[in-house]
Amino acid sequence: MDFKQELKTYQNIINQELQKYTIKENSLEKTLYDSMEYSLMAGGKRLRPILVLATYILLTTNKKSIQNIEKNEYTKCLPYATAIEMIHNFSLIHDDLPGIDNDDIRHGKPTNHKKFNEATAILAGDALLNKSYTIISEDLQKTKDPEEIKIKTQILNELSNAVSRMIAGEYIDTEYEGKKINIQDLEYIHKNKTGALLTISVRMGALLAKVDQQTLENLTKYSQKIGLAFQVKDDILSEEGNEKELGKPVGNDKEKQKCTYVSQYGLNGAKDILNTLTEDAINCLSNYGENAEFLIELAKYIKERNK
Ligand code: IPE
Ligand code: IPE
Ligand code: MG
Ligand code: MG
Repeated sequence: MDFKQELKTYQNIINQELQKYTIKENSLEKTLYDSMEYSLMAGGKRLRPILVLATYILLTTNKKSIQNIEKNEYTKCLPYATAIEMIHNFSLIHDDLPGIDNDDIRHGKPTNHKKFNEATAILAGDALLNKSYTIISEDLQKTKDPEEIKIKTQILNELSNAVSRMIAGEYIDTEYEGKKINIQDLEYIHKNKTGALLTISVRMGALLAKVDQQTLENLTKYSQKIGLAFQVKDDILSEEGNEKELGKPVGNDKEKQKCTYVSQYGLNGAKDILNTLTEDAINCLSNYGENAEFLIELAKYIKERNK
């Protein structure tokens, strides 16, 4: 499998879908829409929506590559994939604000509040979060089958809880700047601020695919391992990444005395933990045969990525 090609194809699908939601109308709030589009279309990796789609595809088709899959085979997932990416971008816009991380660069460009202003950035984040729920409620309204309605209602509930976890994680992360933390509490921050959205992404794909409880639990475990791995890697990149490639500041965690896996375990300690988490994630996929190759490669990509 050409993983880079697979990733690109998935990213194109997501980008096309998100583009449909950009608003071009010439209203008084035009700049608000421009600022939402600015962040949403700035070049994110689209990992969360990709996890929704790839999980669903693994469980519902017998095909290994996205190149051989027709759009109608995963259309059902698109509102949920779109919603999670909007929520993620809301979290990034607010995370960069002066009151939280006070960062000036994201995706190699000025952060939303730098490009527009603080008020616009706060409201663009709010609007993206709210739009995500509008998209899902519209999909729910169109759904007729009672079993599907039940699944989608569960998803809505789990998603809103995951957003609450992310917000709680962000709160604790900010609160603990410059303070000492124990290992359990640090893990708690990371699992919440970053893990929650990655986990719900996989679970949404699995729930839409109507899997049995055992499969759901197993894939949830995969998502939890990559979720923590993702933030450990983010901590490592904040220490030794290349600012140009990363598109966001390097050294900012240290500067703000953030509690991270690097501050807690050192660079090598964090890398060892990242390796173990990645192996654990891959082991969760041993029952799915060669069709799981993309999700296996995705776990490796999370470990090896430079951006
Ligand atoms: C960055 O997430 C914020 C964290 C949760 C660490 P991503 O690396 O997935 O953000 P994109 O790819 O720029 O959207
Ligand atoms: C990531 O926070 C979690 C969220 C944005 C919810 P970080 O502050 O660690 O991520 P980056 O490094 O700014 O992307
Ligand atoms: Mg932060
Ligand atoms: Mg940040």
